[in-house]
Order: sequence, then structure tokens, then C-alpha cells
Amino acid sequence: MSEPAPKREVDRKIEKLREELRHHEHLYYVLDAPEIGDAEYDALMNELKRLEAAHPELITPDSPTQRVGGKPAEGFKKAQHSRPMLSLDNAYSAEELADWNRRVHELAGNLPVEYTAELKLDGLSVALRYEPAPGGGGLLALGLTRGDGQIGEDVTSNIRTLRSVPLSIDAAKLKKAGLAPGKVFEVRGECVMPEKAFEKTNQEREREGLPAFVNPRNSAAGTVRTLDPGIVATRGLVFFAYFLLVNGEYFAAGQTATLDALTALGFRVNPHRGRVESVDGMMKFIDDAEKRRATLGYEIDGVVFKVDAHTTQQRLGYTGRAPRWAVAYKFTAQSAITKLEDIMITVGRSGKLTPTAMLTPVFVGGVTVSRATLHNADFIERMGLLIGDWVKVERGGDVIPKVVEVVEDKDHPRGTHKFSFPAKCPECGNAVVREEGEADWRCVNADCPAKLRESLLHFGSRGVMNIEGLGDAAVQQLLERGLVSSVADLYSLTEEQLVDLERFAEKSARTLLAEIERSKKAGLARVLMGLGIRFVGERTAELLAQEFGSMDELESAAQDDPERLVRVEEVGPRISKAIVDFFARPANRALVAHLKKAGVEMTAEKKQRSAELAGLTFVLTGTLPNLSREEAKQKIESAGGKVSGSVSKKTNYVVAGEEAGSKLDKAQELKIPVLDEAGLLAMLAGHGRQSAS
Ligand code: IVH
Repeated sequence: MSEPAPKREVDRKIEKLREELRHHEHLYYVLDAPEIGDAEYDALMNELKRLEAAHPELITPDSPTQRVGGKPAEGFKKAQHSRPMLSLDNAYSAEELADWNRRVHELAGNLPVEYTAELKLDGLSVALRYEPAPGGGGLLALGLTRGDGQIGEDVTSNIRTLRSVPLSIDAAKLKKAGLAPGKVFEVRGECVMPEKAFEKTNQEREREGLPAFVNPRNSAAGTVRTLDPGIVATRGLVFFAYFLLVNGEYFAAGQTATLDALTALGFRVNPHRGRVESVDGMMKFIDDAEKRRATLGYEIDGVVFKVDAHTTQQRLGYTGRAPRWAVAYKFTAQSAITKLEDIMITVGRSGKLTPTAMLTPVFVGGVTVSRATLHNADFIERMGLLIGDWVKVERGGDVIPKVVEVVEDKDHPRGTHKFSFPAKCPECGNAVVREEGEADWRCVNADCPAKLRESLLHFGSRGVMNIEGLGDAAVQQLLERGLVSSVADLYSLTEEQLVDLERFAEKSARTLLAEIERSKKAGLARVLMGLGIRFVGERTAELLAQEFGSMDELESAAQDDPERLVRVEEVGPRISKAIVDFFARPANRALVAHLKKAGVEMTAEKKQRSAELAGLTFVLTGTLPNLSREEAKQKIESAGGKVSGSVSKKTNYVVAGEEAGSKLDKAQELKIPVLDEAGLLAMLAGHGRQSAS
């Protein structure tokens, strides 16, 4: 019996959309060379979602819509590696490389030796297993962390969210790569967190009162081991492949052939690679890599050299923990030992107290470092830092220097006294508090001069009102003369007042005034950011502006109808509370009124509600971690979706939280995709695309 024609047509259409999406994901996430814009991509994705929603029986696990799915794990299962994941021996100098090269030649006998040179990516290694799929291709079946090298943790649902990891590989690609069909193959490589994604992650953590990740590697490792794939999906991790095993055996002729095959399979292979024959060649590659290091956008900590030819690799074999045919040259110049002279506290715009290490100046990786961030009180506590300690400072790429450990030996005795976090604000002398569950101490004085200074600097900064000339020196003087007591006062400054200031020529006074005048047109989103409402960064400000269209409307929603706030994409109870709290304070309402009176534009074009979930029906069950049932319902409905009370064949998604009951069972019985809260939010946000650079 043949299927009815319309069904087959839908089938074809769905498959065609998937092909297109996979093609564009590959261009964007692997080759870094997109051909279409985000809007076009989103349109294709929405069309696919719509068709799949109407024909849930056609959903396949490797569909581009299925990257985030399932419930958060309770813990990770363990699984055995098909072959141990080994480590690498290290070399730190040309001499050590020369020793290694000599040993390789001795063991290789008279075989000629060529090496591949690759960047040593600073992330965490993972192994991806692909199993034969109907049609002759391969399907991603397992993603494992390195673990102890023998047994790793099953992080498959997290790895599936990385768009640089293909969920399936078709038969044609296998053929092109020279792989026979019907075999299990395994791709190994490094998951890295690009620096931009790292900064974004830490900003989010800071907003949530969580301790910052110390470096991108920790952040990548923490993310891959997060129990919630919905979170992993937003973190911008990238997978670089460097190894391929077929039926448990090393692939083909050698490492160059392996990297080429991985490229043909559609993986992201690091483009900075080469072949060298001598120690001179190695040193030249290292030199190039060090020069390039700061501009890569992700961190590397060295260069890996591998004997290229597989036959020679086999001859060289392994020691217990590492192959004899490979070596990792580690960069070293990027860290130095110096003395912690003091700890200074700075007060931020929100009143947050940040400790900064004052160091004896030391040359690290090309620059002189005399300060480094110590994050917060917990960080100092955890390290057991004493004033006078010798510490190791590190600088990776162009990232801010950091204190990584206390050094203690006969030349480096321990310091003398413990640093106690001030009980009073160092700027205004008022009390500081640390709220439950927060990592930071804050000054609670609304009139703290540091807060005003930092607010002015923030207000004028490039990403906010973009007032050129409103830098440290200008702000300091405006405050000293008592010319401003809020950001709104900027708009009543006069030329006479400014030329009076030190180092303020007539011309720069006029320029600053012109810049202030120009900033009136920055628009609602910028003003919202400039107000410094907690948790309201660029993206949230933009979404609020689009939803409410004017400050007045936002203000009245905050005061009379806070439910409306939560309807905005990405606004949850935490952000909504911050907005409500902000407008609840008379001083803040007065500030807004003052800005308005000064002529600062406070409107934006309202955006048509997105129809991201149009045509989809959801059922909610159990308790979600952050959203109430009502909030989740409003979010779905304002994105065009429907919420129904019972699970049936017509349900497209079940959103399940803690203690989900029979509805979840029913969903599983009917094979309806189940989302958690993060999965729902990711869907509302259209999955938020990110690239590596
Ligand atoms: S090859 C048996 N290539 O460095 C050889 N490793 O210090 C397996 N790494 O565990 C590793 N970039 O996590 C290889 N281009 C690269 C690498 C690389 C980073 C990591 C990997 C490994 C660690 C060893």
C-alpha cells in the first residue's frame, strides 16, 4: 500500500529543509562563512518546526530542531572508551623538542619522519561515537568526556547542542572522506569556549550572583558537565576535531589524512596547521602560533607535534600514559611569579566591592602586569591568600591577568597577614552587606560617590549613551565641583561651567556638550541600559524597548501590571523583580522624569510579536525551577503558541518540571518531545545562534 501523496510531499519538503539547515549550519559553525543572515536561517528553522509540529511522526532524532531536547539529567552515566584516551608528554624548550626528535628518529630506524603541527587547544577533550544508520550514513550515538582515560561520562545530550557537531553524517560524505559504510567510527577533539562566549557566560553568572569561571577552559568543562542541555545550548561552545578511529582502529595513512577526512565529514578542523621536518621547522611554527595567539578568539596553551605517517606511529607505540609519536610543546612565557603587595577594593556602579591584587610589577607575555582581579571574597578565601605572598600570575592571549596560585618554597616564604574584607564601603564609609546566596559584598548607600562616579562612566560609555569625552578625568572633575549629582544633570551643563574645569579648553567643552546633546537621540534601549537597572543588559533592554515602545508604558507596567514584564522573551521572575524594584523607588522615578524633561528620547518602535511558536500546542506539567505555571503560559501564548490542559496526539511539546506526573508518562507513551524550562526558553529565543569568533 502506498502512502497518500500529500504526506510524501511533506516528507520531501521536511527533508529538503533539514538539508538546507544542515548546509547553513555547516557554513556558519564549521567554516565560519555564512551565506545567509540570521533572519533567513530562523525562517527556515521556523518553517521546519511548523511542519514537524503538524507531522510529529516525521520527527527524527537528527533533525536540526532536535538539538535541545529531553530533561535535565540527574547525573551522568559512565561509559567505557573504545580505546583509552591518552595524554601527551610535554616539552618546554627547543632542547626538549630536539631530544624528542632524536628519540623518534632512533625508534623509526631509517624511515623518513615528518610531523604535523597543530595548535594545542585549551579546552576539554571529548570522544563522539557515530553508529551506522539506515541509508549507509552515521548517527551520533554517544558523546563521552575523557574521564580517567578509560571511562568517561556520557554527555551526549549536551554535545548534541553544539552546532559544530553534526548529528548525522550521510553516506555521500562518508564516501568522500574515504570511510566504508556500516562501521562504527569515533571522532575525538577538543571542546573550547571562545573568549567572547566566556565573557558573556561570566557576565551572566555575575548577574545571577554566581562565582565567575576562572578561565575559558574551566568554563567549557563546567558547561559540558552541566546537567541541563538547555543551558549548554546558549553557551557558544565549539568543537574542533583532531582524531578519528574506525571500528576502534586508527584511520588511514596518517594524521594529515585524518584531518582531511574530518574536514570532509563536516567537522570543524583547526585551520592553523602545518607539516614540519626539523626542530627549526617546529620552532618557526611555534613562533607563528605565539604571534597569532592573541587574535584567535579562543585560548591555546601550546602546539602539538605528531608523527604524520601511521606506520611510523605504530612502530613508535605508546608508553603507559602517552604516545611516543606525539609531543605537546607548552607555552611558558605567559606566567610569572611576583609578590602580592596589597589588596585594593574598588566599588562598582551597583555598589559591588571587587578586590584587586596590587602586585610588584612583573613582565608576563609581553606586558608589565601590576594588578590582577581577585574576583570576590570567596576567591581570596579559597586560595588562602596572605598579603606578602608570592603568587603566580598568568596571562592567556589578551585576557586580563589573573592570580592562579600561591607559591611557597625556600625562596618564596609565605606572606604575613590575612586580608580582611572591609566591613565598610572604602569610598563612603557606609555599611556593606552580602545577601544570602550572593558571592559579592555591596555598599548599600544609595548616595555612595563611587556609585555615582561609576554610573556616570557607564552612562557615557560606548555601548550605552556613547558620550565621547566623558571619561575618568572629566567625570572626576564634574563630581569634585559638585556639578552633577545624577546622570540627568549632564543635560543641564553649560559651556561656562565646563571651561572652568582644569584641562578643559573651550573646544573640548563644546565637543562634550555636543556629544551630550547628541546622546539624547540614543533611543529607549540605550537609556534603559544607562539607568543601570540590575540584570538589564543590552539584549534585555532591546527586548523591553521593542515590547513596550516607551518608558512610560514600561514604568506603568512595572507598577501596575508586572505580569506583562514576564511576557517578554528572556525576562524571568528575577529580571522582572529588578525592574519592579527599580521603579518602586521614588528617586529612580524622579531620575527618569528628569531625563525626560531634559529632552532625552524615550521611545522605540514596537516590534510585532514574534510568532516563533505559532501553530504549536504545549502542555505544562510539574513545577518549573523559575517560572510559575502562569508565567510559562503567558510566554508561550505571547509567542503565538497554545497551552492545553491534557496530553493528546495533537500536543507538540510537553514542558515538564519537578514532580511531573501522569502527563509526562502520557507524553512518553505518545513519543511527544519533552522540554524542560531551559529548553522552552531556548525555543522562545529561537535557540540564539552564536559563532566562534
Ligand atoms: S592529540 C593521543 N591534538 O591536550 C593523543 N590533543 O595534554 C591525544 N589537546 O588530552 C591528543 N589540542 O585534550 C591532541 N591538537 C591537539 C590538541 C590536543 C589540545 C589536548 C587534549 C589532550 C591534551 C594533552
